[in-house]
Amino acid sequence: MLFIIVFSMLFRHFYTYKHLLSRPRYETYRSLTSDAYSYHIPVMRDECCDGLNIVKDGIYVDCTLGGGGHTKAILDRGGKVIGIDQDPDAIKRTTELLQNYILDGRLEILQTNFRYITDSLKGSKMLLEVNRNKVDGVLMDLGISSYQIDEATRGFSFGKDGPLDMRMGKNSNSNSLTAFTIINQWDATALANCLYEFGEEKRSRIIAREIIASRPLNTTGELEQVISRITHWKERSKTLARCFQALRIVVNDEINALDETLNSIHTCIRPGGRLVVLSYHSLEDRRIKQLMKPKTDNPDMFIDNKDTNIWTPVTKKALIPSESEVENNRRARSAKLRIAEINDILNNLNKSPNTGDNKKKMGAKQLAKLQKKEEL
Ligand SMILES: C[S@@+](CC[C@H](N)C(=O)[O-])C[C@H]1O[C@@H](n2cnc3c(N)ncnc32)[C@H](O)[C@@H]1O
Repeated sequence: MLFIIVFSMLFRHFYTYKHLLSRPRYETYRSLTSDAYSYHIPVMRDECCDGLNIVKDGIYVDCTLGGGGHTKAILDRGGKVIGIDQDPDAIKRTTELLQNYILDGRLEILQTNFRYITDSLKGSKMLLEVNRNKVDGVLMDLGISSYQIDEATRGFSFGKDGPLDMRMGKNSNSNSLTAFTIINQWDATALANCLYEFGEEKRSRIIAREIIASRPLNTTGELEQVISRITHWKERSKTLARCFQALRIVVNDEINALDETLNSIHTCIRPGGRLVVLSYHSLEDRRIKQLMKPKTDNPDMFIDNKDTNIWTPVTKKALIPSESEVENNRRARSAKLRIAEINDILNNLNKSPNTGDNKKKMGAKQLAKLQKKEEL
């Protein structure tokens, strides 16, 4: 019995402090290698490409370029890509890696937040050259890349000691919000709300109080220690993951960026084109599911004074990675893939035998609203 008690105490302390034995210092900046997947292994790569329904020389936007894994797969299937990322490290690394495709005019890379996609595409050289303003499909692989998690200097990981930063677009605005500001300056209510709302952390108030009592906190390691010491060891990893996720979402304004993009993305895709979205937590997946859900059963696709069916879901349920993919890449384990096709609303309306009736039913106001939506 005594042996069991002593062993469990030792195990508990080892669990708490084991990271100190292996924690790399954040001054050691790992150099970017040219190996295609060392930066990030693309999740459900083939399913995403199938979902986009790629046609030769079709133009696709990869809103989350990262290490270029999905982009490379689209290029390999004959598509052209406009790749977007807000992270200067991703832009630099992937520009170097896929230089040949850029020189061939098959790939254009833009450093921006995808919430500005509508404006960014207006300035796209690739679209201007073919005199088009809509693309054939859009891919979003939300969240952060393995590189961002593994690179201690970015401050995303509780397993590595680094500055409390967490900005994806780290150099884009030196005054922008960082995790340091939230941890050291926000009051208890704001801090607890952040952990609860964006990390779904039930002990958010207790954790917020402990953080405030431990200020100042300068590094991810210090924050990890504070959360760990008031959390049962069995719950430690999950609690840390939830708290770090919440901070990251708030620092990067991820939910607002996603909402803005989902609200406007249909204006960038041609009728029949696809939207393919990979998400990793329920806050995101809920929104995507809602967007793609048919708004009405009416075959004519209109309901008075409500919304139109812009999207048709391609699969009824979200797709998830295979067991073997999760075995090879644990970061794929929470992925959900949803695919929808944009409806040719005005064409469907004209083809419908009830066209005249429908137009009358819709009224001038609704038609104007619809036309504005379709940017005709
Ligand atoms: C999961 S990774 C994508 C990995 C990529 N599919 C690959 O195969 O390497 C997400 C990437 O999207 C970027 N990102 C996340 N939110 C963004 C936003 N709002 N605007 C632009 N880029 C964003 C991140 O910087 C990160 O590089």
